[in-house]
Amino acid sequence: MPITRPFTLSALALSLATLAPCAAWSATALPNADGEVIPETEAADTAATVSMIRDMVQKGFDTTGHAFRDAHRKAHGCVKARFTVAPQLPPTLAQGLFAQARSYDAVIRYSNGSQVQDDTKGDARGMAIKVMGVDGPKLLGDEAGARTQDFLLMNHPVFFVRNARDYVGFQKAISGGAWTTAGWLTTHIFHEGAILLAIQNRKMTNPLNARYWSTTPSRLGTQQVKYSAVSCTSGSFTDVSTGPDLLRENMEAHLARQGACFDFKVQTRTQPTKMPIEDPTIEWKESAAPFTTVARIEIPPQQVEQGEACEIRSFTPWHSLAEHRPLGGIQRVRKATYLEISRLRHDLNGQPRVEP
Ligand code: HEM
Repeated sequence: MPITRPFTLSALALSLATLAPCAAWSATALPNADGEVIPETEAADTAATVSMIRDMVQKGFDTTGHAFRDAHRKAHGCVKARFTVAPQLPPTLAQGLFAQARSYDAVIRYSNGSQVQDDTKGDARGMAIKVMGVDGPKLLGDEAGARTQDFLLMNHPVFFVRNARDYVGFQKAISGGAWTTAGWLTTHIFHEGAILLAIQNRKMTNPLNARYWSTTPSRLGTQQVKYSAVSCTSGSFTDVSTGPDLLRENMEAHLARQGACFDFKVQTRTQPTKMPIEDPTIEWKESAAPFTTVARIEIPPQQVEQGEACEIRSFTPWHSLAEHRPLGGIQRVRKATYLEISRLRHDLNGQPRVEP
């Protein structure tokens, strides 16, 4: 969830500036079999996104001597887990990773979304799951032999921009300072602005005691789905910390005593007109398409991995089997972005980039 520059909403005055026109859709483009429609401007907007984020990571490196993630920089830690596919799934769901009822090793990185480093403040929170030992060719050209399937989730059901064009408009606005940010908010206040505010107001006390969503769709065989992970830990969470690092401290304290678990779920797109592929700001209503559990994530008691051992890992929705191909404009812009930024930060830090 890449809100890469901090800004304080209360400090913003309203402005009449108009920014970020809607994406330039090709008038003639028809949706493909997955419901995707690729705007003519997408390649240029993707290049602009990569360039902006590269500049920010490089600037951070020039200042601190270390290259950090541009988004989700603050980790609460990485945890080891087992990802077990549920038995006897219906054939429509038993596709790709979910085809066989078997268990995989996994690692999960929990994080804050923006540059807000104090956990007592509201923010998006990330849950990035890497399932390991997954055979079959993967979608990233130079990592086609990787044996990993990643799922990136955040703690809100919808994202706050529709596509690459809108993301570039948003980034330009917040890079321009308070007035241009206020302009963006003014012109997007009732939809994207409201989602952004809702995300930024989200609080939690333990990353293990929450629900997370992919917000963006993926393929599941011939269908389209979204993912969600719902905490299924029974018993109470006795949180020990209320300080600025409470999410790390409470997760560590919990896993020092006992394990945790999540149900991993998929939601199938049943009503194409109400469940768009190209607009993750629109929620696919659970009343129309409920989530079904396809796997259980067990996190045993453990010492949580911190520091470079956790930071050196790279997660992207494109570490994926073709059966789970990410779909829609936001997913497409993430393909080049995550790859380039992961490469850049590893290069700058002189670290090897290796998929487990
Ligand atoms: C325009 C759209 C987006 C852009 C440009 C973007 C960009 C980024 C970048 C640059 C990173 C750091 C990658 C690295 O250094 O390895 C990142 C991490 C992350 N993003 Fe996004 N992102 C976008 C949308 C989303 C969405 C829709 C989600 C919703 C689930 C999301 C969830 C995450 C998570 C959980 C991480 C942390 C992964 C980790 O722990 O390594 N992002 N994003």
